[in-house]
This record gives sequence, C-alpha cells and structure tokens, in this order.
Amino acid sequence: MIISGKELSVKLKDEMKAQVATFPDKYGRVPHLVVILVGEDPGSVSYVTGKAKASEYVGIRNTTIRKPDTISEAELLSLIGELNADDSVDGILVQLPLPKHISEDNVIAAIAKEKDVDGFHPLNVAALWQKQDCVLPCTPKGIIKMLKVAGVEIKGKRAVVIGRSNIVGLPVSKLLLDENATVTIAHSRTVDLPSVTRNAEILVVAIGRPKFVTADMVAEGAVVIDVGVNRDPETGKLCGDVDFAAIEPKASVITPVPGGVGPMTITCLMENTIECFLRKHSIM
Ligand code: GUN
Repeated sequence: MIISGKELSVKLKDEMKAQVATFPDKYGRVPHLVVILVGEDPGSVSYVTGKAKASEYVGIRNTTIRKPDTISEAELLSLIGELNADDSVDGILVQLPLPKHISEDNVIAAIAKEKDVDGFHPLNVAALWQKQDCVLPCTPKGIIKMLKVAGVEIKGKRAVVIGRSNIVGLPVSKLLLDENATVTIAHSRTVDLPSVTRNAEILVVAIGRPKFVTADMVAEGAVVIDVGVNRDPETGKLCGDVDFAAIEPKASVITPVPGGVGPMTITCLMENTIECFLRKHSIM
C-alpha cells in the first residue's frame, strides 16, 4: 500500500478550512502566520511558496517576508522581536537553513514559544521530551498521522529511525516511543546498518541521501516512511532516501516522494498555526 500524504492532506485541509471559516464570527479574525525567508535558495523558496499556498487554501492569513542573505543576525532578531510583540501575529516561522553568519540557535530561541509553529524552540523541545503540553514539530507529527490513517499499529513494534536531526530524527523517535514502539536511532555511522534496519517493522528514513536505503536493507512486510527530499543524480528528478521502485514490492506500507511526508509537514504547520491561535484565545 502506498500512503498518499497528498490525499490525506487535502482531506485534513478541507476540515481545517471549514473550521477556520467559523473563526471571524467567533473570534473576530482568522489565524495569521508569518513566514520569514532569508536569501534565494530554490529549495527554501519552493517550501515557502507551498506554505503560502496551503495557508490560502485553508483561509489562514499568510505574510511572507523576504530578506536578502546579507541581513545581519541583529536585524533578523529585531524583526522577530517586532513580530513577537505584534498581537495580530499567531505563528512565526523562519525557513531553515539560514546563511552561515546567522546563528540558527539564536534565531529559533528568539521566537516567542507561543508563536513557535515549527515546535523548534528549546522550551517546546524540552516540553516534548518531558511529556508536557507543546507544539509538535510538523514532520514528525505528520508521520504519526499517516501511520494511524494507514491503520499501522505502532504499539509494540520495533521501529528504526535513520537520522538524528533536531527537525526529524530525534522528535519522530520520541513520538514513536510515546506510541509504545521500541525505537532504535541509527545514523550514517551506524555499524552494519543493514542488519539494524532489517530488524525494523517500521523504518523511518531521514538522512538526505538519494536512494540510501536499498532493498536488502528492508524486511519483507515492513512499513517504510521516506522523509528524504533529494535530486536523483541520474534523472534530476525529486526522489527520496529510499529506492522506491526496489522496495515498494517488499513493503506492506510505503510513502512516495514527492507526495508523501512533504505535504503532511505543511498540513501540520497549518494545524499548529490554528492551535497557537486557539491557545491565544484560550479555548483549547
Ligand atoms: N527547513 C526544512 N524543513 C523545515 C521546517 O520544517 N521548518 C523550517 N522553519 N525550516 C525548514
């Protein structure tokens, strides 16, 4: 079975659209998401465009602020400070990566926790690991939603996550653990990685290398979640971290790239923006 993140996203966005349509009457306005893009990286431009499109679809107000990559860290922090203080702004997202002269840690920490729709703020991360109420990071949240909709039982399963980034690997491992999977976190330096991944009933791959996972690394009947977004060096087309054509016949469930995890990330961003808006109106 191929899980279409695209299809599930449309369904979830339609539900949110109906919900947001009731907000002007209830709260006097719709949620407002501000996205900051520094520089011109084509990948980032395309992500930010996707976020604006999804906002428009759901009925969320979107402001995209584009800044040149010559902006100083102080200027960026000052902009974030203004948005933190602006009561009409519910969510703030700074597209990563940032130019090298700007500290991503400083930028993430500067965003008000209440407006951190990415769930990257150190206080949100701490809350996640301490099982407290928090904003869940979008990609891990989207992955768990997809597994549930596909009817995959997570409880009691052996899950292997390849990748240990703050954005995906670590938080998705925590969410799987919270669903009572037994989780192994592997990475590019894991010794004899195939022997680890062959043991996985659920395999999540977030390593950022085209076709990194080959058929011999996957057990028959495994659930395979591909978080990679790469360019195939041969065809130039978008591809995941998993050799889809070789693994699809073996997997019980698999996500495609594009059209799998990617759309779910953006959909969860919409959900997080609504969540931050509703928290502010303190009815959650
Ligand atoms: N760059 C790649 N993924 C993400 C994301 O989820 N949020 C932000 N802010 N930047 C990213």
